[in-house]
Amino acid sequence: MRAIVYFHYGPPEVLQLAELPKPVAKEDEVLIRVHAVEATKADCEMRAFKFAVRWIWLPMRLALGIRRPRKPVLGGYFSGVVESVGARVSRFKPGDTLFGSAGMRFGAYCDYICLPQHATLAPKPDTLDFEQAAAVPLGALNALHFLRKANIQPGERVLINGAGGSIGTFAVQIARSMGAEVHAVDSPLKAGMLHALGVSRFFDYTKEDFTQNPQKYDVIFNMVARYPYGKAIAALKPGGRYLMGNPPLLSMLRAMLTPLFSDKNAYFAFAGETEEELLTLKRMIEAGQMTPVMDGVFPPEDAAEAHRRVENEERLGAVVIRMGD
Ligand SMILES: NC(=O)c1ccc[n+]([C@@H]2O[C@H](COP(=O)([O-])OP(=O)(O)OC[C@H]3O[C@@H](n4cnc5c(N)ncnc54)[C@H](OP(=O)(O)O)[C@@H]3O)[C@@H](O)[C@H]2O)c1
Repeated sequence: MRAIVYFHYGPPEVLQLAELPKPVAKEDEVLIRVHAVEATKADCEMRAFKFAVRWIWLPMRLALGIRRPRKPVLGGYFSGVVESVGARVSRFKPGDTLFGSAGMRFGAYCDYICLPQHATLAPKPDTLDFEQAAAVPLGALNALHFLRKANIQPGERVLINGAGGSIGTFAVQIARSMGAEVHAVDSPLKAGMLHALGVSRFFDYTKEDFTQNPQKYDVIFNMVARYPYGKAIAALKPGGRYLMGNPPLLSMLRAMLTPLFSDKNAYFAFAGETEEELLTLKRMIEAGQMTPVMDGVFPPEDAAEAHRRVENEERLGAVVIRMGD
């Protein structure tokens, strides 16, 4: 089978198209023919071994491989069709269309992937094609996980910092579906797209600091690694909640102290990515409450180009690699 592999950490050119043996499903696994896979910011960070927060370096090096990547195939978020199932699989059957997450197993940048039947998998939304479906799980699972923690009430004001990225574009739509008024911060390139998603106020981070705005927020969801913690907390209303997708170590320590010394709360996590969340997203998409924003679809031989597109920060929406015909 075809697979996009990398044997060294480095620039996009380390990605190559290669032939690997087709996997065989074990008793409790499903073999999935991958049709499309998102090229994510996290894939690029792992390929280059460059992360926005420094504390992550050691745990990631131990997890991914000290001298070179232990698993040569990246890719966590995909859509496809069940090709065969192991003897003990009851959840899926050959021919089922799926979307989901391979999580830290990676391995979706290829024609076939084997996953346990209880991995984060769900039937593909009927209203999306395979490329669109592959663009959902990373951004939408993370956005839903964090925004649920904030227990957003209708009419609350929510600010999303880094709203134009994979997670942010879904966070805008999910917060709106929860009844919030949504403000967004990102580069000016993303302004039109974010207004089209329903943002009522846009801040260009190259010119404006949203914390200088006199309006305070019930919830701030921050995707930007080094955003000053104190500034974000000061921009919250009493009872406000601060959600951090990508926190430095010091911000994590301060987050534990914030509820002890103020009436505000702060939350950080690695989002769990559950089947229940994926099924909720499928329902929301089919009900027309949100849709993936697509930047471009690349063939597997142009995987390096797809990573460049993600890294040059000019994309408007998801970059997807099409593995299927
Ligand atoms: N906690 C978790 O479980 C979890 C899970 C997945 C990912 N993450 C992390 O979360 C982060 C966001 O993920 P993503 O996939 O959404 O990334 P992404 O697609 O790259 O989106 C980040 C967005 O933030 C914008 N941005 C950059 N600097 C900014 C600033 N100073 N102020 C406001 N906006 C700014 C970027 O715009 P530009 O074009 O200007 O750069 C981009 O639109 C990543 O670092 C990722 O590793 C965390």
